[in-house]
Amino acid sequence: MPKRGSWRTRFGFYLVAIGSACGLGNLWRFPYVVSENGGGAFVLLYLILALAVGMPLLVAELMIGKSTRKSILGITKQTSGQNQILFRWIARASVVLTFVVLSYYAVISGWVLHFAMQFFAGLVRNTTIDPNDFLRNLLGNGLLQVALASVHLILAWLVVIKGVHEGLEKWIGNMMPLFVFLLIWLVFKSISLDTFANSMRFLFYPDFSKLSYSSLISALGHVFFTLSVGFGTMITFGSYFKETDHIPLAGFRVTIADTVISLMAGLLVFPILLHQSQGRFADPTLLFEALPRLLTQSRIGNLFGLAFFICLYIAALGASIGLFEVIVSNIVDRKKDIKREKAAQWTGVGVLLVSTLPAFSSNFLRQFQINGRGILELIDVFLISWILPIVALGMSLGLSKVLDEKVMAAEFLAPNKVNSAALYGHWKIALRYVIPGVIILGFLLELLGLIL
Ligand code: PHE
Repeated sequence: MPKRGSWRTRFGFYLVAIGSACGLGNLWRFPYVVSENGGGAFVLLYLILALAVGMPLLVAELMIGKSTRKSILGITKQTSGQNQILFRWIARASVVLTFVVLSYYAVISGWVLHFAMQFFAGLVRNTTIDPNDFLRNLLGNGLLQVALASVHLILAWLVVIKGVHEGLEKWIGNMMPLFVFLLIWLVFKSISLDTFANSMRFLFYPDFSKLSYSSLISALGHVFFTLSVGFGTMITFGSYFKETDHIPLAGFRVTIADTVISLMAGLLVFPILLHQSQGRFADPTLLFEALPRLLTQSRIGNLFGLAFFICLYIAALGASIGLFEVIVSNIVDRKKDIKREKAAQWTGVGVLLVSTLPAFSSNFLRQFQINGRGILELIDVFLISWILPIVALGMSLGLSKVLDEKVMAAEFLAPNKVNSAALYGHWKIALRYVIPGVIILGFLLELLGLIL
């Protein structure tokens, strides 16, 4: 049996876990769901849920990964009895979910790549680009979107086949500092726009009347998505942990880092969007529409645009590598005779095939719409606001059964530098009751909204 890799340094884990958590979810999805749900009140809800629901589940996923040293499908082999049936279905669902999410994620990452290349060309040629044509050409051309998605998947594949150190730790580790640097620089630029004060009010002033029956489940779905929980990603990352690593602290830090990056993304994106669209931006393409339009008006537009889309692309690539890695490590854990390279190859091909559906959603399949939402948006809402909370519900119930009491206690009560003993009881209550309870409440409210 090949020896399982482990993180070379603890810092390496943080870079990869944060690199995988920070992705399109923070920079593209967060602004769009926040605006769809009316701003400040939703942000507050999101912050509370990230800490009370997302973080405890993240800790549980890391913990089971560390204690079994397996990915989620590998763990199903070790469990027995009643627990096994529930857990096996959740495990399968989470891997299928990861697979489909990666396929539409790849399409949007392809858009980002395209915009980065256009701004680069504009910079080199010193020309301004026509932003309307820009997006229209891209969305109208399904084959171009498939081609861009395949370039993106090849890049992710190249990293994944190299394994934990040479692949994940090295590549994401190198990209993260650049991402953070670019993000800070861009936030400073954005703050100088005259819409900054308005966007602060929109983001942080909670007007609860703006919340709808769907807001709770949307916020939950987004929390799980942005923290990469419910996919088994953190189980796989936990399986590369060394014995001495402290899981609760790791879970806390990853949650805080991801949340801070989302808020920074809000500070960056909202002033720009408000500048452009007078508050109408609850649409997945709007970031790609409004931002270039604003940038082409300024002298340093091409440079700013290039920096923004490189930043977004780094985030998208890190997250895609995380998604890709989970599928591959599950296949390898489950089927010992399949090599990592082969598993990665087949995963890439399969994902690309599925990605044709979202890629053609704005052209060949444009007619297919429900409530004004095209295929790509429907996939996004269906997977993240429905399927993901269901899988997370199963995951919290499954993990609270499968996790051994001794393992849990050892993680929290270990005579360690960090004293987390006081948190142990709270965490168990969160895992067993708070997470399932809030998810069920979210679905009940959603149903109530549909009936009323
Ligand atoms: N958390 C990532 C984002 O916010 C998405 C993701 C989910 C990445 C699951 C890896 C695993 O974009």
